Amino acid sequence: MVAKSGQEQEESLRRWVADQGEIAPPSSPAHPPTQTRVMAVTSGKGGVGKSNVTLNLGLALAIKGQRVLLLDADLGLANINILLGMEPQETLADVLEGQKELGEILWKGPRGIRVIPGASGISRLAAALPEEITSIIEGFRALDGESDWLLIDTGAGIAPNVMSFVLAADEVLVVTSPEPTALADAYGLIKAIWESAETPTIRLLVNRAQSLDRSERMGRRLIDLASKMLHVEVEWAGLIQDDDHVPMAISKQMPFVLAYPSTIASRDVQALADRLIERGAVMSRTKGTVGRFIERLRSVVSPLPETDGVDPRF
Ligand SMILES: Nc1ncnc2c1ncn2[C@@H]1O[C@H](COP(=O)(O)OP(=O)(O)O)[C@@H](O)[C@H]1O
Ligand SMILES: [Mg+2]
Repeated sequence: MVAKSGQEQEESLRRWVADQGEIAPPSSPAHPPTQTRVMAVTSGKGGVGKSNVTLNLGLALAIKGQRVLLLDADLGLANINILLGMEPQETLADVLEGQKELGEILWKGPRGIRVIPGASGISRLAAALPEEITSIIEGFRALDGESDWLLIDTGAGIAPNVMSFVLAADEVLVVTSPEPTALADAYGLIKAIWESAETPTIRLLVNRAQSLDRSERMGRRLIDLASKMLHVEVEWAGLIQDDDHVPMAISKQMPFVLAYPSTIASRDVQALADRLIERGAVMSRTKGTVGRFIERLRSVVSPLPETDGVDPRF
């Protein structure tokens, strides 16, 4: 089955948005049209905290007054819904099957964020073709100007359906833990991004930091290596500390920035949100739009170059 066309999705999404009565149409003076910052949150190695970072960063941005749309694009192991304690009836899988339109599966999350839920354990989704991903993404065109951020939580690694989202974003937040294996995989991912035609702004975030000095040193060494070996400039995004309140919040199915707003991981995420808002202001001339996101997503549909082994000894 084929997903609905971009135009059909756009119309349905606009209708849905209008029905909610929450988001003003693009021409409204209350919410003047804005450029949407499209940022993929990704990693080389799995389990380093992408989904928690994406969700809690999205909430931290929303608390600061930003309009946030969150796409759960981990097409194999979607779990933003679990972190939020929500059970979506319809997911991206239904859009892929042509059963639903994008506008019909949007969820209103806490603090005004909106979530496009993914689905877990459906091999059909994990094997989605880049063309199908592109078709889904067409629906985002309708939201351009109505969200300040489109945050995309991706799967780990450099498989084509992950890279389709990563390469189409304007900004990429590469998440790693301070472990050598995760850092080596982060380097491999940065190399794979670098091998693509158009390199987005890449930032490195070290999550689960225990020793702050050591974690920052490790992260900065990776950035130096990328600069020397690949001539790609990766920005240092900072650290999020390892914090027992994170798994505690997960077991309550509550985002930690809401469950424990003053815990150390929440403070780190709030600081990250501040830095991203600040840096965006500096880069606003080159800031992309959802339209550009879709264009680039189309342009990466062709197969990706093979990447060779990663030398973890940096
Ligand atoms: N800052 C942190 N402090 C403590 N534990 C963390 C932190 N970030 C993530 N975790 C742990 O790592 C696990 C994996 O996080 P998750 O966001 O699901 O990773 P990913 O999306 O990269 O697979 C979580 O279940 C949580 O227990
Ligand atoms: Mg995840």
